Amino acid sequence: MCGIVGYTGNRTAAALLLEGLKKLEYRGYDSAGLALQQEGRLIIAKKAGSVADLESILEPGLDQNTVGIGHTRWATHGKPTDINAHPHCSCGDEIALVHNGIIENHQELKEWLATDQGHRFISETDTEVLAHLIEEFYEGDLLMAMRKAMKRVIGSYTVLALSSREPGRLVCTRQSSPLIIGLGENENLVASDITALLEHTRNTKILEDGEFAAITADTIEIIDADGKAIEREVFEVTWDLEAAEKGGFDHFMLKEIMEQPDAVRETMRQRIDHSSYKIQLEDLGFSAGELQAIEKFYIIACGTAYHAGLVGKNVIESLTGIPVEVDVASEFRYREPLLKKNQMVIVISQSGETADTLAALRLARQSDLKVLAITNVVGSSVSREADHVFYTWAGPEIAVASTKAYLTQLVALYLFALYLGQIRNSTKPAITEQIVEGLIALPGQLKAILAADSINRLKQYCRHLAGWDSAFFIGRNLDYPVAMEGALKLKEISYIHAEAYAAGELKHGPLALIIEGIPVIALATQKAVLDKTLSNIQEVNARGGAVFAITQEGFKDVVRQVDAVFYLPPVIDLLAPVLSAVPTQLIAYYAAVERGHSVDKPRNLAKSVTVE
Ligand code: AGP
Repeated sequence: MCGIVGYTGNRTAAALLLEGLKKLEYRGYDSAGLALQQEGRLIIAKKAGSVADLESILEPGLDQNTVGIGHTRWATHGKPTDINAHPHCSCGDEIALVHNGIIENHQELKEWLATDQGHRFISETDTEVLAHLIEEFYEGDLLMAMRKAMKRVIGSYTVLALSSREPGRLVCTRQSSPLIIGLGENENLVASDITALLEHTRNTKILEDGEFAAITADTIEIIDADGKAIEREVFEVTWDLEAAEKGGFDHFMLKEIMEQPDAVRETMRQRIDHSSYKIQLEDLGFSAGELQAIEKFYIIACGTAYHAGLVGKNVIESLTGIPVEVDVASEFRYREPLLKKNQMVIVISQSGETADTLAALRLARQSDLKVLAITNVVGSSVSREADHVFYTWAGPEIAVASTKAYLTQLVALYLFALYLGQIRNSTKPAITEQIVEGLIALPGQLKAILAADSINRLKQYCRHLAGWDSAFFIGRNLDYPVAMEGALKLKEISYIHAEAYAAGELKHGPLALIIEGIPVIALATQKAVLDKTLSNIQEVNARGGAVFAITQEGFKDVVRQVDAVFYLPPVIDLLAPVLSAVPTQLIAYYAAVERGHSVDKPRNLAKSVTVE
């Protein structure tokens, strides 16, 4: 999720845009850039690194310019370099634009523009295609050209552009990506995030999907895709800056939990052909022979990413029959694993900078094993050193407790397992269809879960939970790794000593700790072992445990056994972890809030553990 800001008025645009970009920098960015109008030409400045790095390369004497656009980048296509930073320009440098989102058909458009229309491309980005595409339709009216161009574009986008031939005019559009217009006195602003506007105005107009706007210092013209004029009411923002950074949520963690439907949708974008149920991961760069030859996988990671790996093991083994060993990186790197030819290592890391995971990656490469990295940060160490990289497109994750990145790691593992099954013909087409249908339904189901009234029951249970210093999570099959993740989330932000157990293990010891009222979160989403899980819940009940169950609608027997229940929409066992993880995240969140802890910055922890 890149940051975008634009200004047209009578104040110095460069200074104002830099301030706006700094307000957006809290989300963590890898490069920044500006485009300013100056006497019939455009001045472009862009740099990999922070906004301060950009500021340091700006020529003196830019204070006359009163119109410009700015961008902070969160790379998805193309490493964080000066060339790949935004703005991107047309061949004639008459048009410059900044973009947030992903252009799915950028390759196809690029080929047409370069081969048939003779455009010259200089960056690795999907965005640059838009500058050339708009140039292709440009006849002096940027709004008209953008409308024609976007008809050919598939993807998610916020686009903001200006032309050297239209002084004082900014043109923008959006499709499933945020864009806000800020109303001022003899000036107007545009931004992807309210935080960049708040210092200047609280009066805004929100652009809806598929709409376009042309903005000058005194006018705002909004039209739909067919050119029909649209009247939009002014929306007054009441949040303070800190609240705005959190999108109106009390904490980044809750904001990121609520962003999961979009994060999962974005991570699947371009990777599933809905019509043929085919998984499209050719851009990972594997040869079919390479994937055919694999006899064993190692999945190596730390913390939450390790828990995603445990789900990945089950999914890859059940869809391809290839054995998978999962290990925490800090153990793997010192236990001299038996690494052999025809084995591959998958490392998972949100930050891409975790020291133990990086060391495990290097150990694998020293043993000539190929490494696939699943990471959320383009240009991170893990992404640079791995042979193949699967980027999760969760966007910047700020809260130390990982939530949306974890869900996108699960989705990445499902897609990779299906792709393997496709290449090796090891998965029955009917199974693939069922799983792909299930994956496509996930964003909608996540939205339903996050709006469910069962969240109130969950909050109520958290008031009970917050009064205890220990708690248990239990589950069988794929519920067990999710129980482990739930316990980690509760530990790291509420400081309640939570343990996760395979439900069948309780009677081999932990049951001794079950006393009257002790909180036990039972995951019961796996149809295949539901009866077994129910009998384990009865064991806990018999000793007075206060059980909160996470189960599927239709699993009627569960409610009779427990104190409170959270229902998930019906889902196949294999995909249940993507849904069941959400209530475990919310339990940790509301318990931590109930206990008054600093949810986003828990004690003793860091977002990225770059030391051993
Ligand atoms: C998870 O909430 C924690 N922040 C931590 O366990 C984390 O998952 C672990 O440090 C791995 O981080 P990574 O995914 O960035 O490598």
